[in-house]
Amino acid sequence: MTKAKELEEKLDKAKLPQHVAIIMDGNGRWARKRDLPRVAGHRAGVKSVREIVRACGEIGIKVLTLYAFSVENWKRPRREVDTLMRLLRESLRRELPNLNKNQVRLRAIGRLKELPPKVQEALEKAIKSTEGNEGLILNLAINYGGRSEIVDAVKSLAKDVEKGVCKPDEVSEEIFEKYLYTSHVPDPDLLIRTSGEHRVSNFLLWQVSYSEIWITPVYWPDFRRHHLLGALLDYQERKRRFGGI
Ligand code: IPE
Ligand code: IPE
Ligand code: MG
Repeated sequence: MTKAKELEEKLDKAKLPQHVAIIMDGNGRWARKRDLPRVAGHRAGVKSVREIVRACGEIGIKVLTLYAFSVENWKRPRREVDTLMRLLRESLRRELPNLNKNQVRLRAIGRLKELPPKVQEALEKAIKSTEGNEGLILNLAINYGGRSEIVDAVKSLAKDVEKGVCKPDEVSEEIFEKYLYTSHVPDPDLLIRTSGEHRVSNFLLWQVSYSEIWITPVYWPDFRRHHLLGALLDYQERKRRFGGI
């Protein structure tokens, strides 16, 4: 029996996290360790995405959010940013039949309007094409920043207040959340970060307030189904208290 199969048998299907969010980190270091250019790490990372999307669907996770590109990542050298955008576009196109075959429904969060037009087109096409699927919701965070998301939410809320749709005193957490990019999904139950960094890097700042965090030293291109299962099993051992006792 493979390691993944063995771990999967230990999983309690009644206690799965509904929403898993992943900070896919370590592509550059994975490549450097092999004397390859950083972009080779990004290319290798696509394979991990394919495997983890598939695994989440098969295991029965409802929502998977993947941090693919942050608003801060534009600071990287032009060549690397271009490659990342091209990889994104190509992967969307290439994986679309697979997503449909596996009933995956694609969504995206972030300042999408600032993405190169070709990436926006590929994204819109894939979102539209998978709209009717009923399996895993795959939520891609692209040009995403937790702070910009909150600012964008405040702006739309302020406009609604101006229009009289809602009164300032009526604003509650429940109402505010409706203005976030993630209004269509529950908060992440489990937040995974690869490559050993212990930070949130501006990811889902509002939504992770009670997420269980799981960090592995494994670089994203090496992240496989059995690592995901390890995280899920660890999650099932946690006692979530949400401030209670
Ligand atoms: C994650 O890997 C991918 C993106 C942020 C787009 P990195 O490119 O951050 O790899 P490291 O962290 O430099 O190793
Ligand atoms: C976070 O990784 C962003 C993504 C995974 C897309 P970074 O590599 O950009 O984060 P820092 O700079 O190490 O905090
Ligand atoms: Mg990094």
